[in-house]
Amino acid sequence: MVKRNTCVFISGKGTNLKNLILKSRDYNFPINIKLVVCNNKKAEGIKLAKINSIPLLLVNTNKRNFENLIIKFLKKYKISFICLAGYMKIISKNFLKNFRKDIINIHPSLLPKFKGLNTFKRVLKNNEKKTGCTVHFVNEKLDGGKIIVRKSFSINKKDTELLIKNKTQKLEYIAFPEAIVKIFRNY
Ligand code: GRF
Repeated sequence: MVKRNTCVFISGKGTNLKNLILKSRDYNFPINIKLVVCNNKKAEGIKLAKINSIPLLLVNTNKRNFENLIIKFLKKYKISFICLAGYMKIISKNFLKNFRKDIINIHPSLLPKFKGLNTFKRVLKNNEKKTGCTVHFVNEKLDGGKIIVRKSFSINKKDTELLIKNKTQKLEYIAFPEAIVKIFRNY
């Protein structure tokens, strides 16, 4: 199978990146991770790129042209698909105009509910009965693109923010690969 040259964007721990790296070793999984972009020099996920010999681009988002630098690297590595895995920076309209292929994101709530940050806290405060994660296409609206996969679980009375976070992340490791397979199944 012809695998898509993929770039994963991260800002933190990179547990989703780790999971995608593992999955991509499967012959039938439709992506190969050719580049990691990170905007936080202290991110733990950087180690994963290094250990797995995946080229890494560390960007400084305070610099005006940082997205142009990313675009340059995407071209260099012939990237045709982007996964945002905990990338804490909004993708600009200009970037979307320049990279006309698919970009997907994983979000720790059942979108369209709880867009943005601090989802677990807000879910609890709102006395939600269930929560989960969503993988969606990225467009110019924050957490607003077409939904690809959503996975949920019921919230118990004893659930804390941390427990909800852990349960959500476990689901993310299933949902992200599932969404990728779903996107490329029809190609
Ligand atoms: C995930 O919970 C994801 O939903 C959110 O950021 C977190 C990233 O975690 N967008 P990790 O860096 O993959 O461990």
